[in-house]
Amino acid sequence: MKGKRIILMGPPGGGKGTQARILQDTFGIVQLSTGDMLRAAVKAGTEIGKTAQKIMEAGALVPDAVMVGVIAARIAEPDCVKGFILDGFPRTIPQAEALDAMLAERELSLDAVIEVRVPDAMIVERITGRYSCAKCGAGYHDTFQKPKVEGVCDVCGSTEFIRRKDDTAETVATRLQAYHDQTAPLLPYYEQRGLLKTIDGAAPIEDVTRQLVETVAG
Ligand code: AP5
Repeated sequence: MKGKRIILMGPPGGGKGTQARILQDTFGIVQLSTGDMLRAAVKAGTEIGKTAQKIMEAGALVPDAVMVGVIAARIAEPDCVKGFILDGFPRTIPQAEALDAMLAERELSLDAVIEVRVPDAMIVERITGRYSCAKCGAGYHDTFQKPKVEGVCDVCGSTEFIRRKDDTAETVATRLQAYHDQTAPLLPYYEQRGLLKTIDGAAPIEDVTRQLVETVAG
């Protein structure tokens, strides 16, 4: 797994972040989540954060030029030399083309693009039940991923939790539409390049992890 460059694709709330964090902790390859980067920018009040905030809350996509700049800066950092898992990027064909160019410039390539496939019908429950630790960011779910001790973060022991502003039943429809219209065309894009693998993201979390590890190793 070390040294791999992987893209995790899938619908909003499909489990990309959950799996990317497990792979990061297990194999030491860094998770690059553009959603997390944008939320940090919003919190810090940067220009990118100001541009992104309303767009994210509405469930639409932030402009390609902004996102390409964010990822170009991030993959130039030293921790990416050992490989990375892209979670939430690319989300459009122009973003995928920009990524190809960035990697080619460094004489690098992708090892795999893994689609975590989850039916739309499961997404509302996944998203509206999601919350995370306010201190360390560990992810949880009201039904599917509860902390071992109720109200206490497994990782850091904090008792404060937060929910994302865009995790509402109303915003889910817009986010799913954006996924089907703008991101799903990337599946044939990567299939034509022989990189696409699909796993069953509707399975329980541990099963999805097992499928992912097998897919990357195989
Ligand atoms: P982003 O943060 O990337 O949101 P997303 O794609 O909508 O994905 P999520 O983070 O909501 O879900 P996930 O797949 O990581 O699921 P998770 O593991 O948490 O982006 C947010 C916004 O930023 C976008 O809408 C856009 O505005 C902007 N943006 C970001 N990148 C962009 C880009 N490249 N271009 C343009 N705009 C961009 O799981 C969800 C819940 O389900 C959790 O509670 C988890 O515990 C639970 N769960 C996970 N797996 C399972 C399982 N197998 N079984 C049961 N429960 C599970």
